[in-house]
Parts: sequence; C-alpha cells; structure tokens
Amino acid sequence: MKKLYQPIKINQLELKNRIVMAPMGINNTENGFSTDRDVEFFRRRAKGGPGLIVYGNIQFDPIRYNPKSGARLSDAMFVPRLRMVTEAVHAEGCPIFAQLMHQGRYGSTKNSVGGELVAPSVVPTKFNGNEPPRALRHDEIAQFIEWQVTAAKLAVQAGFDGIEIETNSGYLFGQFFSPLTNKRKDEYGGSLENRCRFLVETLAALRAALGDGFPITVRVSGNDFVPGSCTNDDICDICALLDKTGYVDAISVTGGWHEAAIPLITMELPPANYAYLGKAIKQRVNCPVWQSNRMNIPVAEELVERGDVDMIVMARPLLAEPNLVALAQAGRLDEARPCIGCNAGCLDPCLKNQRVGCISNVECNHELDLMDSEGRLPSEVLSDHPQRILVIGAGVAGLEFARVAALRGHSVQIWEKRQKAGGQLKLAAAPPRRGDIALLGQWLERSCQRLGVNILYGWEATPVDVLAVKEDFDRVVIATGACPATPDIPIEEDAPVVQAWDVLDGTAKTGKRVVIIGGGAVGIETAFYLAEIGTITAEQLRFMMIFDVEPYEKLKQLLNRGSKQVSVVEMQKAFGKDINPGARWSMMARVRQLGISLISESKVTEIRRAGVLIERDGAAQLLPADSIVLATGAQPANALYEALRGEIAQLDIIGDAASVAQIADAIRAAYTLASRL
Ligand SMILES: Cc1cc2nc3c(=O)[nH]c(=O)nc-3n(C[C@H](O)[C@H](O)[C@H](O)COP(=O)(O)O)c2cc1C
Ligand code: SF4
Repeated sequence: MKKLYQPIKINQLELKNRIVMAPMGINNTENGFSTDRDVEFFRRRAKGGPGLIVYGNIQFDPIRYNPKSGARLSDAMFVPRLRMVTEAVHAEGCPIFAQLMHQGRYGSTKNSVGGELVAPSVVPTKFNGNEPPRALRHDEIAQFIEWQVTAAKLAVQAGFDGIEIETNSGYLFGQFFSPLTNKRKDEYGGSLENRCRFLVETLAALRAALGDGFPITVRVSGNDFVPGSCTNDDICDICALLDKTGYVDAISVTGGWHEAAIPLITMELPPANYAYLGKAIKQRVNCPVWQSNRMNIPVAEELVERGDVDMIVMARPLLAEPNLVALAQAGRLDEARPCIGCNAGCLDPCLKNQRVGCISNVECNHELDLMDSEGRLPSEVLSDHPQRILVIGAGVAGLEFARVAALRGHSVQIWEKRQKAGGQLKLAAAPPRRGDIALLGQWLERSCQRLGVNILYGWEATPVDVLAVKEDFDRVVIATGACPATPDIPIEEDAPVVQAWDVLDGTAKTGKRVVIIGGGAVGIETAFYLAEIGTITAEQLRFMMIFDVEPYEKLKQLLNRGSKQVSVVEMQKAFGKDINPGARWSMMARVRQLGISLISESKVTEIRRAGVLIERDGAAQLLPADSIVLATGAQPANALYEALRGEIAQLDIIGDAASVAQIADAIRAAYTLASRL
C-alpha cells in the first residue's frame, strides 16, 4: 500500500491515512452556531475517506467576531450544534480537529461586531481597505490566551479530537511572527523568540489544559510572500522553535498571506508548487509536517512516498469531489470530479461571507437542500419514470444533464456536431496555465461514457433529423451552447478579421500586430494566449537557469516578451469585468507583465484593412493591425430549439443555448432539469 494510505499517529491519535481535509470557512454558520447544513456537508466529506478533517475558522474572541462567517466557541451555548458535526463525522470513522482563529488586522468592522480591530501593532493593510487596528495592550494578551483555552475546552466538550491554531494566511499569530506587522517594544516584539512568545504561551496553556495526550497542531504560511515579512527561512526558524517546546504534534504548511501579490491557489499555480516550503520545514522539526495548496492525488502520493512531507492537506479538491480519497484508494481516480482551481464557487463567496460551494459540483454544500426524506441526493435516486432522452450538444450543459439523467436511470443519447465533447470549455482552457478547465469537460465526458450515455460525435442536428427520430425519444434537450456575436461595426472588404473563438481553437492564424476588440474574459484570455506566443518555454528557462546562461532580468524579459504586439480595445473603463475576482487579479497581472496594451473607454467605429479605427476622448485614431480579433460577446445558439418548438411535446433548452452565462450557471441548470425527471 502506498505510504499516503498508511496510518500515521498524531500524538496518541491514529489516522487511517495521511490525507487531511483542510480547514475551510464555508459560511454555513448562523450567528456563530453550526447548522444542519454543516452537519450534512461534513458527514459526506468524512464518508469520502480522508484520514482527518479540520473544521476551519472557529472564532474564540467573545468580543470581536464576524457573525456571518465562522462558528464561535466562546461560550457553552455553541457546543451542542458543533457536537452534531463531530458526531456525524465520527460515525463515518473520521476524526475531526477544531481550528481556532483570530483575524487581527485582517478583520473588518463593517462585517464584525466589537467595533475595532486588534493586532500586535498599528499596521493597516490594503486587504481590508487600510482600516487601522489598535495595538493589543500587554495585559490583553493573557486574556487572549485564556479565551483560547476556553475555546479549546469547549471544543473537547463538542467532541473534537484535536486543536489546530491558525497562524497562516496573515491572521493574528502570523501578524505577531512578522517584523512587518509586529513593531512592539515589549517582550512580544523584537527578536524572533519574542515574536513567537504569544503563540508559545498559548500552546503552553493549551497543553496544560488539555493534557499531554491531546493533539495540538499549528498551521503556518511556509513563506508569507510579502516583502519585509517572514520568508521560508524565518518560518523554518519559527517552526524549529515551536517544535522544541514539545507542545506541537504536527505543523501544517500552506502558502503565503492573503495580501501576497503572487498567486497562492489560483489555476496558474502548478500542482504542489509550494511543497518546497514544507519540505524545508520538515528538515528542521521532528513532528510530522503536512503540506497543502493545489495538491492532487498523484503528486500527493509522490511527496509522501519520497518523505518530502508526512501528510497532505486538501481543500478545494474535496469540495469538488467528496469521495476523492475513497476513489483514489479503490484505484478509480478517473471517476473523481476534478477541482479546476477557478475559485469562482468557493473562495470568491467565502471572502464575501457568502455560502461556499463549487461551480462543477452543484451538490457541494447544498446537500441538505437537495436531499429527499431518506437523505438521498437526486443523483443517488432512480427516477420513477425512466425516459429515452436525446440531448443535442456535448458541451458542459449537455454533458452534465446527460450524466445526472443517466445516474437517475434514464437512457440518454447525445448528438455532438464536433468530433470532441467539451464545447467552450476547450476554448477557455487554451490560454497558458488555464488548461485545468479542460479537465472538467474530460471528466464529464468520461462519466457519461461510463454510465452508458451514447455520444455520437460529428453528428450535426438539423430540425429534420430530430423530427425523424422523434418517436424514438420521450424528450429532447437542446444544449447547443452559444456562438460568437458579430458587432454592428462597418467592416471594410478583405479586412483581416477573425473571431476570438477561432483563434483559441487554433483554426485562425494571426499576424504580428494584433488588435482585439472587446476586453471581457474572452478578449483578455485571447490577449495573453497570443502575447505568450514566442516567449521561452519552461524547459528553455530551466536550462538557462541551470547553466546561468542569462541574468535574471534578461530571463524575465524572455518570459514576458513574445513575438506579437497585442492590444485590446474596450468601450468601458475596466477590463475582464466578467472574470471572477478569485482568478481576475492574477490574469490581469499577467496581462500587464506581457506588455499587452489596454485601450479603455474607446469606441470602435470601423474595421479597416489597415487596422481598427477608434474614437477616444472625442478624437479618431487608427490602431494599425495585421489581424483584428473579435471578442465582442456571445449569443445563444438556439435556432434548433426555435425550429422544434411546438413540434416536440417534451422539449427543453439549457445552458448558453437558453441564455449566455457562466459555467456554474450551465451546470446548475443541467443538474436541476435532470434531477426533476
Ligand atoms: C473557501 C475556502 C475557505 C478557506 N478557509 C480557510 C480557513 O478557515 N482556515 C485556513 O487555514 N485556510 C482556509 N482556506 C485555505 C485552505 O485550507 C487551503 O490551504 C487552500 O485552499 C489551498 O488548498 P487547495 O489548493 O487544496 O484548495 C480556505 C480556502 C478556501 C477555498
Ligand atoms: S469552485 Fe472551482 S476552485 Fe472551487 S472547488 Fe470548485 S472547481 Fe475547485
């Protein structure tokens, strides 16, 4: 058996395997109380096989807390509801730890009660709009330690099997560790030992209160990735110091602070990229080291097998696929729904204090709403009236509908006009480092095939074809997606115009000077797809670094300057407004690095052979171009539906064919329709 699936002990507690479900504030709580929704969410995750679950984001401060985000453990009244969560998790054979946290300067008085933020020193952060915190008085620190002891004792009463202290991501203890945010002159500031004193005193108090045999772990950012804050070397020193106290049973390592300017968990982060942080820490401590951030099962198996780290922590992959561990252990990993790292359904709502979910898994954190009286989800129940269903289109909506309908016992056939399934997902996956989006389409296609859905490729549906087979099916579902919209702009004959979709799928070639019309998601994605052409490859970069071929600045230039000059013209002020916030900032940063010219608040008045004529600040200007790319939106491809209306008794339309929207909307519409049949 691979080491990842072998038991390991954390203090006296034996875990059945080495995969931890990461702490996540999923915003299921109401006024700090856990809910039935929470119970069902965690029960299903525990059933899916991880060795341990960490229940995230528990607030211990009785005065300053966010009532909309996170459970509270400052009073015994919060215990019974949390006990329901731990009992549900235990019933599935999984232990669960409680993560205690305090936001410190990362809080916001708009969202929290208490009327103030507290921190080691008065160092505001742009993360919350530079709201200045108050420096904790010396005598308040003992009070904070006492509150954590109270919370930990309540956690024991609630049935938790261990305590994790959150110091990662820039929260209160991390603010004490960091010379950037800790300017104190007392014994809690200054030397590394002093900056760790608050945590060490907390750990000592917790150990005294909970006993030697109770698991206590600490979660750290392996590097804050904020200039002037703790580096990986500093965090190694901190972990070595914590390990020496003997109070800590494991150290869980994540990436940097929320205010870091580099991607920590977005799609462009290669799998396990930050494992080097935990690996370095492991060399300095005796306790087990856990590592997170963009893990997948193959890299997790490798890292643990090699002994780089002892355990793997996964968050979003278990939102997307609750049964991930069980499927991996059963050798059925290809059945696991992938997390594509988009953040659209999880981190984005989390940061707005909204309920967390997953764009590709409609059931995620909606289990309680969707379950029937016997606790079964629609995808787990056979329909009373199995139907023969014809689906037109194997894009994301058609595939998700077919998958859920097949799970419910319907007999489904899909007609897809292309030779491949996945529709627009393939286009979205074309730009560099966006490839994971395609994993979703591949999984949907595999799932359909496994469930016996008959997908006919290269099968374009005309109204006549569909009407000819109408007696063979009880229902027809139109999922024909969208097609690119052509703007109402005069186009000179022979102007070198192509559609962005054709660029992204490789069918349209472009010249050296490219002007893209439209600065929404498709325009931006097409811009950096084109601008990266001609930059050096990962292999070339590796070679040049190993042999010191060029200095760092030159290498950066080679990474950022391709063969084309790319401009994007947009009517509005902002670019990429339809990209979800959890992905947008890093995409826009890359756009700037690549030197893509962003021309805002400009109206395109004409497309000419020589370029694009725009009107800006009342003046006309010609943007010379060899290629002009239209990224001016999409419209529903609903002609087939319109032709069949009234001709077919049971006819539905879903996804972009009904109304152009996001992946999440298409998947939800498809799931909802299939679960009603
Ligand atoms: C919705 C969401 C909520 C999170 N909440 C917490 C939290 O409360 N405490 C914490 O330490 N980390 C939190 N994290 C970070 C995760 O634990 C994890 O480190 C991160 O998502 C990277 O792992 P992944 O790539 O497996 O998702 C959260 C992440 C997400 C996506
Ligand atoms: S919303 Fe996106 S990032 Fe979040 S769990 Fe789902 S697929 Fe992963």
